[in-house]
Amino acid sequence: MAPSLGERSISGLQADRVARIRALPTAELHLHIEGTLEPELAFELAARNGIALPFDSLDDLRSRYEFTDLQSFLDLYYECMAVLRTRDDFRTLGERYVQRAFEQGVRHVEIFFDAQAHTVRGVNAEDVLDGLLDALETGRQRGMSGGLILSFLRDRPVLEAMDTLESLAHRAADLLAVGLDSAEVGYPPQLFVPVFARAKELGLHRVAHAGEEGPAEYVRDALDLLGAERIDHGVRSLEDPELIKRLRDERIPLTVCPFSNVRLAVVPDLTKHPILDLLAAGVLATVNSDDPAYFGGYLADNMAGLAEAFDLGDDVLVRLARNSVEGSFASVERKAELHALIDEWARGGGGELLG
Ligand code: ADE
Ligand code: ZN
Repeated sequence: MAPSLGERSISGLQADRVARIRALPTAELHLHIEGTLEPELAFELAARNGIALPFDSLDDLRSRYEFTDLQSFLDLYYECMAVLRTRDDFRTLGERYVQRAFEQGVRHVEIFFDAQAHTVRGVNAEDVLDGLLDALETGRQRGMSGGLILSFLRDRPVLEAMDTLESLAHRAADLLAVGLDSAEVGYPPQLFVPVFARAKELGLHRVAHAGEEGPAEYVRDALDLLGAERIDHGVRSLEDPELIKRLRDERIPLTVCPFSNVRLAVVPDLTKHPILDLLAAGVLATVNSDDPAYFGGYLADNMAGLAEAFDLGDDVLVRLARNSVEGSFASVERKAELHALIDEWARGGGGELLG
């Protein structure tokens, strides 16, 4: 019997199936904290900081969430984050994400932040960092581990990225990794070789967006030239069979973002998403939300969307959850704890979130 409207979620799955997927413990490895800015919070922070947003209402802002490509999204994303100014703002933003993510099963999170997008507006980079660390501490008290990834904007000057890294070098112990994001095509990884070399010297992990809109070659260059340990998106790697073999053999994780790929027209719709092809090729692919406030859902929503699009059973969901833990920078001990939580879910338990 078809589910009634009240039993359906946004994914179209039965409500009890969605609740079970939301209870699956996962690690979120590809999440831009600025992309969690929900319209309500944007207006709240605008009022708090006396900033006028160029939108008449929540609905007016929501009506702009129609994107044709990455750049059309980035234009709105940078415009909205102008409301973020103080340590308190970043703490609030981070805590709202942590709350939502926890409700979606996320038990470990590695959060990107775009420091340059704030410092160019006169915001202190350490206020951004400290506010987000406050939020991670709130998460930790609830049993969610995690860390922060300082992400460089590849469409801004390389020297600015280097200055940003140096300005936070004395806080390296508060960072987990560096990353590379924003407009991809025309901004190849090799531009950022010196910045990533310095990050390595500082003892930071290195990840990079590549193969989202850009070619498979950018994925290879991110690995070879930047020393990236993980690739964000990477879906275009499938255009290069040799690269796919390498990703599989070297167990290089891909942080795949299904809803993002649909909303930014990287793939035509969820049923055409290549995540199962990546899994079938033996690649350590994970599911992530990227910019959930803009793309229609958080991590478990992405999982539920895939479950519906491909009629996935628990076995595939468990594999994706295990990949997320495996692909994380969590300690061996923490990974073991997270795998044990997944074991419990697979046995039919782990349902404290059901209800
Ligand atoms: N910044 C925020 N979301 C992004 C994405 N999907 N790709 C590149 N840069 C981003
Ligand atoms: Zn991203």
